Formats: sequence, C-alpha cells, structure tokens
Amino acid sequence: MDLQSATMLQALPESKTLSILNKVTRLKQEGHDIINLAGGDPDFNTPNMIIVEAEKAMKLGMTHYVNSNGIPELRNEIAHKLKIENGVNYDPSQIIVTAGGKPALYVALKSIINPGDEVLVINPAWVSFEPLITMVGGHAVSVDLNPNDHFKLTKELLDAACTERTKAIIVNNPNNPTGRVLSIEEFHNLRDVVIEKDLILIADEVYEKLVYGTHQFTSLASIPGLENRTITVQSFSKGHAMTGWRLGYLALPSELVPAASNIQGHLATCTPAFIQKAGVVALKEAKEEVEYMRSIYDKRINQVVTYLNQIPNVNCPHPEGAFYVFPEIKFRNFDSIELANYLLDEAKVAVTPGIAFGSSYLHNIRISCAMSERELEEALRRIEKALTKIV
Ligand SMILES: Cc1ncc(COP(=O)(O)O)c(C=O)c1O
Repeated sequence: MDLQSATMLQALPESKTLSILNKVTRLKQEGHDIINLAGGDPDFNTPNMIIVEAEKAMKLGMTHYVNSNGIPELRNEIAHKLKIENGVNYDPSQIIVTAGGKPALYVALKSIINPGDEVLVINPAWVSFEPLITMVGGHAVSVDLNPNDHFKLTKELLDAACTERTKAIIVNNPNNPTGRVLSIEEFHNLRDVVIEKDLILIADEVYEKLVYGTHQFTSLASIPGLENRTITVQSFSKGHAMTGWRLGYLALPSELVPAASNIQGHLATCTPAFIQKAGVVALKEAKEEVEYMRSIYDKRINQVVTYLNQIPNVNCPHPEGAFYVFPEIKFRNFDSIELANYLLDEAKVAVTPGIAFGSSYLHNIRISCAMSERELEEALRRIEKALTKIV
C-alpha cells in the first residue's frame, strides 16, 4: 500500500515555530515557569452577553443543520456592519459564515485558484497564508517589505513580484506581526497594481477592531476600484476575544459566490447555529466590551514598546494595530531562531522568531501583548536580564 501523502502537500512548509512550541511544551512539563508570548489568543474572556446568547440559542433548539452559508439573521447583521462601519456594500447573499478566519481564507483561495496560479503574500506575513495557498494548489510568491523603510508597501515591490500567473494578492491589515496599518498611499499602490494586472484582492481584516492612536481602519473593499475585486475575510476571534468559538466570514463578489458556497457546503455543512446567533449579539451589543479590550491592548503595547526600547540593541517600532510588537534585536549575531531559543532557555519566555513571517526577518522576534500586564512586566524584566547578560 502506498501511504505517501499527496504530492502537493509534501511541498507544505513545516511550521517554523513548531520546534519552539514543542520546546515550550517540554519545558512546561518539566515544571519550568514559562511565560508564553508566542501565541495570538486574547487573555480576555468572551464578553458575557455573547455567552448568554449561545446558551439561550442552544436551549431553544438551535442545534441542527442550518443554511450552509449562514443564518439569515447573522448574514444580514454582517452586511449591515460592513455598510455602516466600513462603507462597503455587500448584499447578505454575498456573505458566507465560516468556522473562523482560517476557513474563510481557505474557501476564498479554493474558489479562485487554479493549479499553479500565483498569489502574492506581503511579508512579514502571518504564518498560515503560504500553507493555505499551497493546500489549494497555488504558489505563494513573497513580497518582502523592508524594515528600514517602515515595512512600506510600494508599487515597485508589487510590480516586481507579478508574473502572467499572478492571480491574487493577500493583504493583512492591520498586520500580524508588525502591527502596521496601511496608509492611503499604500492603498492606492495596491489598487493600481490590482487593477493594472487584473487581480483579485483577499483582504484579511481580522484585526480591524484593534487600531491605536490617530490611525484609522479602512476596509480595502471600500477603496474605489477595489469593491468588485475584493474578498474580505473577517473573524470574531481577536476583537471579540472569541478564538475558541470558531466564527468568521468572507464577503465576496457575487460572481464567486456559487463556487465558494459549494466549497463551504461540502466542507463544513454549516457553522453551528447557536454560535452564529451569539455572533449577532457580538456585532450588535458588544461594542463597549470590544472598545474596553482595545484600550487595554493599547496600554500594554505602550508599556512593552517603552520597556524594550530602553534595552541596548533593541529597536521596537510602535505598532499601529493588532496586539503584537515586532522588535529588531541585535544580540551576539544570533538569528531569530537562535534568539527565540536563547530567550526560552535563559529567560523562560517564549516568543516567535521573525523568520516564521518571512525569510528576510532574521533579527526580529514577535511578542504578543495578549497577556496580563503582570505577566508582560515579568517577561520584560526577564528578557532585559537575558539580553544584557555579560558572557
Ligand atoms: C492575520 C490572521 N488572519 C487570520 C487568522 C485566523 O484567525 P481565526 O481562524 O481564529 O479566525 C489569524 C490568527 O492568528 C491571523 O493572525
């Protein structure tokens, strides 16, 4: 019997963070006091009214199969939210509710990619974009943004990466890991390339609710010229602290709905109805709770950036959104994997090596601020001690 996995999946890159995460598990099992700043799971509990609504819906019998694209109440509410908050006109029929942002991205990519099609990934990029592209038979092409140019997205970089096989661009705004929020100029750069090369834009906007200071969130689909070429991907995981619920959605041009809807139906049947019902309450009634969590992340980010920047050889740009910081650290010529291992061994703090987000980020690490201030403070103290250790 041939027990080889599919050829396509043999090309699936192994997680670059796996060895660090395995080590975290081992050290914890051995009884070490590890502070894990490598994850992306909010430390907040889901706002109570969302939990109450899910309980109520379950007791009322919303425990059966429902429409595979989502319950009308939630799709209507999402369409309303996109219109009022983002200035984007999607009809409810253009919305598909999924079990989180990841499946929404999968459905989006599977709907448009033919074998060998190329998809531009703007690095530094979240670790799952490339594997998701590979899983649907596409080919990820990296566009590496330059840290010395504030990770600015230029038309030149995009143009240089396009070929006749380019089908789409995935953009994550606000960005994980850098925390950058795209400027109007960058929006226009993107729009020009997307239109000139006749591409589809996949806009991963799962950190929409987490934007700081004077920066404002703008949905890519609201940019004139992009409205009919954009697949918007959203999730309740981050802003609403609902990672474990598995609730997200995609909003897409009507021409793509039949294919996407078919994939969703055969893949998932539907997203659990009681969770969708809770999603309605999340959108309608949890605005204050979401804003409260945002304000706490804002404080923590200030605390972390200020602390890190006073450590010699650490340069930590201030994020404009999301809940990560992505400092560059020059320490004993260590690359990011060596540095992450060192911080784990020496400081018992787990961080994500920059290389996980693109091969150019050799001296960066990603630190998650989705942790209590007390734990962050202790982690920073330990990191400082490790980075200023004399050998
Ligand atoms: C940029 C980005 N997109 C999508 C996701 C997927 O989130 P979920 O599947 O929990 O909705 C994540 C999770 O970390 C992320 O960072």
